[in-house]
Amino acid sequence: MCHHNRFLLLNVAKSDIISLVFQVDETLCPFKLSQEQLQLVKARMRAGLEAGLKTKGSSAIKMLPSYVYRTPDGTEHGKYLALDLGGTNFRAMMVNFKRQNARLYHKIYTIPLEIMQGTGEELFDHIAQCVSDFLDYMGMKNAHLPAGFTFSFPCEQTAIDTVSGTLVSWTKGYKATDCEGHDVVSMLREAIKRRNEFDLDIVAVVNDTVGTMMSCAYEDPQCEIGLIAGTGTNVCYMEEEVDAELSKMCINTEWGGLGDDGSLDDIITPYDMEVNQNSINPGRQRFEKLTSGMYLGEIVRQVLLDLTRGGLLFRGHVTETLKTPGIFETKYLSQIERWEKLCVSVRSILQQLGLLSVAIMIMDFIVMQVCGAVSRRAAQLCGAGMAAVVDKIRENRGLDHLNITVGVDGALYKLHSETTLKGFSSVKCFVIDKYLYSMRFSDETLLDIMQQFRRELAKGLGRDTNPTAALKMLPTFVRSIPDGSEKGDFIALDLGGSNFRILRVKVSHEKKQTVQMESQIYDTPEDIIHGSGTRLFDHVAECLGDFMEKQNIKDKKLPVGFTFSFPCQQTKLDEGFLITWTKRFKAGGVEGMDVVKLLNKAIKKRGVSLFLLLHVVVNDTVGTMMTCGFDDQRCEVGIIIGTGTNACYMEELRNIDLVEGDEGRMCVNTEWGAFGDDGRLEDIRTEFDREIDRGSINPGKQLFEKMVSGMYMGELVRLILVKMAREGLVFEGRITPELLTKGKFETKHISAIEKSKEGLSKAREILTRLGVEPSTDDCIAVQHVCTVVSFRSANLIAAALAGILMRLKENKGVARLRTTVGIDGSLYKMHPQYARRLHKAVRRLVPDTDVRFLLSESGSGKGAAMVTAVAYRLAEHSRQIAQILSEFRLTTEQLLEVRKLSQWCVCVCVCVFPCVLCHYLTPS
Ligand code: BG6
Ligand code: GLC
Ligand code: GLC
Repeated sequence: MCHHNRFLLLNVAKSDIISLVFQVDETLCPFKLSQEQLQLVKARMRAGLEAGLKTKGSSAIKMLPSYVYRTPDGTEHGKYLALDLGGTNFRAMMVNFKRQNARLYHKIYTIPLEIMQGTGEELFDHIAQCVSDFLDYMGMKNAHLPAGFTFSFPCEQTAIDTVSGTLVSWTKGYKATDCEGHDVVSMLREAIKRRNEFDLDIVAVVNDTVGTMMSCAYEDPQCEIGLIAGTGTNVCYMEEEVDAELSKMCINTEWGGLGDDGSLDDIITPYDMEVNQNSINPGRQRFEKLTSGMYLGEIVRQVLLDLTRGGLLFRGHVTETLKTPGIFETKYLSQIERWEKLCVSVRSILQQLGLLSVAIMIMDFIVMQVCGAVSRRAAQLCGAGMAAVVDKIRENRGLDHLNITVGVDGALYKLHSETTLKGFSSVKCFVIDKYLYSMRFSDETLLDIMQQFRRELAKGLGRDTNPTAALKMLPTFVRSIPDGSEKGDFIALDLGGSNFRILRVKVSHEKKQTVQMESQIYDTPEDIIHGSGTRLFDHVAECLGDFMEKQNIKDKKLPVGFTFSFPCQQTKLDEGFLITWTKRFKAGGVEGMDVVKLLNKAIKKRGVSLFLLLHVVVNDTVGTMMTCGFDDQRCEVGIIIGTGTNACYMEELRNIDLVEGDEGRMCVNTEWGAFGDDGRLEDIRTEFDREIDRGSINPGKQLFEKMVSGMYMGELVRLILVKMAREGLVFEGRITPELLTKGKFETKHISAIEKSKEGLSKAREILTRLGVEPSTDDCIAVQHVCTVVSFRSANLIAAALAGILMRLKENKGVARLRTTVGIDGSLYKMHPQYARRLHKAVRRLVPDTDVRFLLSESGSGKGAAMVTAVAYRLAEHSRQIAQILSEFRLTTEQLLEVRKLSQWCVCVCVCVFPCVLCHYLTPS
């Protein structure tokens, strides 16, 4: 029988799975650290480094001077022996430096547990025996070689010229007696002496971090940080401020001790506490116990134990094996995570086949989740710590930006490349976050922006304040969303987004309202949108003629809805005076004109008899709201996040000073792209935003739009990358002509690069096309820049939208708002994370709302047809009413007759009753 417990295919109800996944998720919640928490860890690490430097050894982070003053300069030569104690194994190594080349030979020896935890003498005798074996192996017993001793524990070193190191305390799995407080170099020398078969000249004792930094610096002189992510974890770096006389010295931070004073208590989970309690040094090396190889497996085991005890795993059966400390090794984490990758493909295939809900490898899934959560946290914490170190060095040197190499070693790093890659991405990301600091907003800032937006909104609605308001708040004369009774055959024109589209929309009513649409996209070449207005509208009319011909409706009388995605002043539905062009358009002679008239003129000029009945002109936001309103009657906001950005919403008529009347509501086109045109956003605009504005066709205008919308975001990223490259932060400082070309980095590239799975390879592809040969680090950096820029966009739009929702809530006077927002636009639709980020931010900023975000699947053309249908229906009504009334209309003769009669009446009544009727009947 096949013994496949772990790969059990369960046939479980979907709800059970969901509840299981939910409970596991809850258990893993404390492992998920927010950006804020990571920033705090970074700050604590930074404070720890400073305190360690000041107190010289008495704080949680020891900051031990290494008396290494410079990194190798490549002039070293000769043969050395290197002994390496403190990692997973003991290693003896021969290094032969020849000019710039170093050749290595090494042998690995395991140190048995009883030796690690026996007496000091036993430990060093064992090491001497291993060295003896290695020298035999190399045939160099009599060579009397210089030797360096890598001793990977905290050691106090006192002087430049004496080779000694006093062990401060054992860490990791070691606990040999009579060593703490003693010089480990002397102990090794004595052990060698006791063997009396070979001699060594021990010339240096260094921590493994220092050794790593030195050996990496041999290849890359910029390497001034050494990081170990192995059994334990630690960092060393070149510090400037240890000694007033000497310029630099390498400091062994012993950062594993962060938190030993309780400063990490807020992120320590019960599982970590258990691991700490069971360790040989409870209460010490708290940071190390969250992040390093010796402990990660144990943390996973504790979580699995807990889940099993809770009946969530292994059918609640706690085996002896699972209770055995150390049984779950850290190397399993990397194996499992590699396995997870395979499973992702398995799952996606199952999903495609529609089988996922019945066949799920639940146990695997849970174990993978646990491993992922534990290793992700480790990587993030190391990243946060590293960011603190990098900051420290940067500030020491008074630099804005730092170009530095980190030498890395350790089993965790090597075996678990996923973790460390993630860890490194967080290091990179921290550096970039710092660089793009002004593009990241706290919720406080966003709430502040929201308030400003609200004030601006009110200003735009007021009769006296409107002329100076940045938000034009244009009345649209659309008073309600479709009520489901619309019908007919319509043409819709859709001009102003990334595509110019002509549509035929048929709305019919058989039992249910149904919509049939056919559409065609037409080109709008640059020379046309930047040429004369006449040419532009001639082009539109020509396309219209072509469309009607193709549709075989040339002779039909069809009403037309015109989605014109630019700010228009309207006093009725069928006129729209273009206030100003935005986005890419700048055709001459159109601003200030009624676009309906211009279009009509162009149609007439073509000489073709296009029977177009009624032109309704709507903004794309309004079209979107109407399109979505067709599916959801609650829809009262329409927003576009595409080439440009804008929003409309249903405002109470009594609040719209510019339109007569107090009853009911009217849709207002906010033209929020112009938010900030009065200088209100200066605090948050960056040098890159200003540069974009300067290079645009409408400087000083649409400043909000230029920070957030698709037409500009790619360019923003490009400008940032150019600057970063100039400062050597990416692409090794190489700048290619392509990278310097405006428009070469498009917003659709941001969307591709931010894809979770293939994002990094997309980044490589795109950057390669730009002529740079990106390293993996470059790809990570560019991905992060994209994230910062697109996140800022989603956040800013969320703040503005939150302003509208707050206004709706107040208008309605409800404690909780339930509403639907219709959305359209290429950025929103194409970017893999945008929608989710936007929704999350909005829900955070306006907590008392149930917002439904409804994607407009069929564009705003359908909405324009709806507006036309409503207008058409109303017009039809008026016509019918007029007809009915006409039957009652009296001729002048008849009226005079009535008047005579009334005068007679007055006489008869001797004015007893003032005859009001007479008054009304008097023809004016
Ligand atoms: C479309 C609308 O769906 O979205 C257009 O029909 C609108 O009128 C567009 O302008 C906005 O998106 P983009 O990304 O094409 O500018
Ligand atoms: C432990 C030791 C430290 C060493 C690190 C990595 O934290 O205390 O000296 O560098 O492990 O091996
Ligand atoms: C620009 C236009 C606006 C339109 C928006 C989205 O901001 O001014 O009218 O709604 O782009 O297309």
